[in-house]
Amino acid sequence: MNWIADRPLVVSFEVTDSCTCYCKHCDHGGPRDDSANLRPKDYRRYMEALRPCVVQVSGGEPLMRDDLTEIVQAIHCGGGLPYIILVSNWSLMTPERYLELRAAGIDHFSVSLDFPDDRHDGFRGFPGLYSHLEGLIPELAKLGHDDIVLNSCLTRENVREIGAIADKAREWGVNLCYSAYSARRTGCRDYTLRSDDDLAMLNGGLDRVEARRDCSNWIVNSTTTLDATRRYFERGGLPGCKAGQRFLVVTCNGMLQPCSMQFERYRLEDREKMIEEFTRRNQCDECYVSIRSYLDKSFPRLLWENVGGFFSLK
Ligand SMILES: C[S@@+](CC[C@H](N)C(=O)[O-])C[C@H]1O[C@@H](n2cnc3c(N)ncnc32)[C@H](O)[C@@H]1O
Ligand code: SF4
Ligand code: SF4
Repeated sequence: MNWIADRPLVVSFEVTDSCTCYCKHCDHGGPRDDSANLRPKDYRRYMEALRPCVVQVSGGEPLMRDDLTEIVQAIHCGGGLPYIILVSNWSLMTPERYLELRAAGIDHFSVSLDFPDDRHDGFRGFPGLYSHLEGLIPELAKLGHDDIVLNSCLTRENVREIGAIADKAREWGVNLCYSAYSARRTGCRDYTLRSDDDLAMLNGGLDRVEARRDCSNWIVNSTTTLDATRRYFERGGLPGCKAGQRFLVVTCNGMLQPCSMQFERYRLEDREKMIEEFTRRNQCDECYVSIRSYLDKSFPRLLWENVGGFFSLK
């Protein structure tokens, strides 16, 4: 229904601009002015107007919000949908908070991991982060909820670690999703895969990952998504983005943005204006981040890959 009614399938709520980290590939980092942030009860209005199938709760670093549980409860509102994903660096995660957020309605914990060792600390500007994750993630995975997914943004720095990151996901007993670096966030091309050597590393690494798929779906990206990720890096971009229409961002102060890297802002009431002014004219091909990659497909393919399994169609 959302597809037909031109409502977004996925909404990303960026609940704060502040962050605990200072990542090399990101335009966030450190504290920001949080005085105009939406309060938990404000999120209901957005949910009632947008009615998304999937919600990402992101940031900045969402765990910096002491009222995150109340925000999730307001988004969840006791129903089956939306499917709610918490996208976080987990620097502030604890076992108590994990259980509380699950009870509030988080279905899927996406945990950023850029390296399978303490090079992660250097890339994220957060000493001790890797050892915190190494202690916590296997312990929480053992609870058996099968809701933790490592999220690894592929850059020139870590393209040689594709297999080792997959090994780490297996060792810790969690799932894995790859996403693609975009220079659009910071303007820095140092982390873009450019040379033939980089692309050979990417293709070899992803080929070996493809060979490790099994019926448990622990590699969360579909093969079509990983194939499009290869094309994105090979061509230096991928056209056809539907930001603002199939997905959108709600900033921490309640404005709509087409995506996290396009800063045209609209009021909630002006969503159709955003589609007319931005989406219909959008020529940007500069990222292939997860939120885009999952929705960059025809309606039949989207149904096949995401709904077919529930009806034993595949
Ligand atoms: C912006 S962060 C927000 C949530 C949280 N702070 C975290 O790092 O998971 C969401 C995801 O964006 C990724 N990201 C940051 N900069 C990026 C870039 N330039 N291109 C693609 N993904 C990027 C991060 O690695 C992270 O997985
Ligand atoms: S990627 Fe996430 S953790 Fe790193 S600076 Fe950006 S918002 Fe913070
Ligand atoms: S390709 Fe789409 S989602 Fe990516 S930065 Fe451009 S407009 Fe945003």
